[in-house]
Amino acid sequence: MKTLKVALLGCGNVGSHVARILLDDADELAARTGARLELVGIAVRSPDAPRDVQLPRGLFTTDAEELVRGADVVIELMGGLEPAGTLIRQAIAGGAAVVSGNKALLARQLPELSALADTAGLQLSYEAAVAGAIPILRLIRDSLSGDRVTKVMGIVNGTTNYILDAMDSTGAQFADALAEAQRLGYAEADPTADIEGLDAAAKAAILATLSFHTPFDLGDVHCEGITGVTAADVAAARDAGMVIKLLAIAERVEGSGGEEGICVRVHPTLLSRDHPLAAVHGAFNAVFIEAENAGELMFYGQGAGGRPTASAILGDVVSAARRVVVGGRGRTETTTGNVRAVPIDDI
Ligand code: HSE
Repeated sequence: MKTLKVALLGCGNVGSHVARILLDDADELAARTGARLELVGIAVRSPDAPRDVQLPRGLFTTDAEELVRGADVVIELMGGLEPAGTLIRQAIAGGAAVVSGNKALLARQLPELSALADTAGLQLSYEAAVAGAIPILRLIRDSLSGDRVTKVMGIVNGTTNYILDAMDSTGAQFADALAEAQRLGYAEADPTADIEGLDAAAKAAILATLSFHTPFDLGDVHCEGITGVTAADVAAARDAGMVIKLLAIAERVEGSGGEEGICVRVHPTLLSRDHPLAAVHGAFNAVFIEAENAGELMFYGQGAGGRPTASAILGDVVSAARRVVVGGRGRTETTTGNVRAVPIDDI
């Protein structure tokens, strides 16, 4: 049986679980993939930093570039724009399939990185970047590729849903709910990206890019977070039979000049308690899609946390490895459309 060298870049909450699954489930993954997935190293800044999951010390290195060289599959979980972007380019140039969960990077560079991978005949996959364990990107890209999506509306940030849900259901204070979301491992290292809506905005850009077959950048997304939502707002919504959710929305709209475009936005939204998204509690995510032929669809699951997100990463790794085994050329994106982003003020 063929052996594929897997390099892991980053070993935070998600990365540690990815490494653990690659090591513990090696035989089962090999049987499913048709190749052994050998974790050859884990690039980190501090090899001796304490981690939730115990991993062999010998796997750790600080030399990410060296690790990427010679790998068949590179899993990028460093986050941030650099050095992650450069390492992904180096991985593609070296002939590796890339799996990334880096929403901040992909929200800015997805079309460019996809084109690089396509040209090289390699797979770039990033299911974990949006809605954790929910296989929403594959579904939009593949299952709905013969339909015309008209609207995507999602709870795609677990931290803010956890906070708003705690404020709604138990009257918790914002700061206490945020601290608990951090303790449970849902929040980003700097939770500003969660509570200011930037994490959801990055995911909205990726969802819009795939749903509408047109590149959308983070800069195309109108973004408001939840820091201005008060306990009084939450209580007033409850009294009116509503709930406040931070939603990422991408929809076809008519601009003020009558032309069709796509409006992509993130903001706290009042939802009727009857709406399916109102029933999404805690750090769970859900994505509600309207498509011309399929009608309404909804997908629900764990959108944050080490193990659920690792599940999405491993799905991409197995898929990439299977392609390598059969010698298939990957094709990642079709961002060939010409609809434009419509600013929220223009509708
Ligand atoms: N901080 C993110 C969230 C993690 O709370 O949803 C998953 O992307």
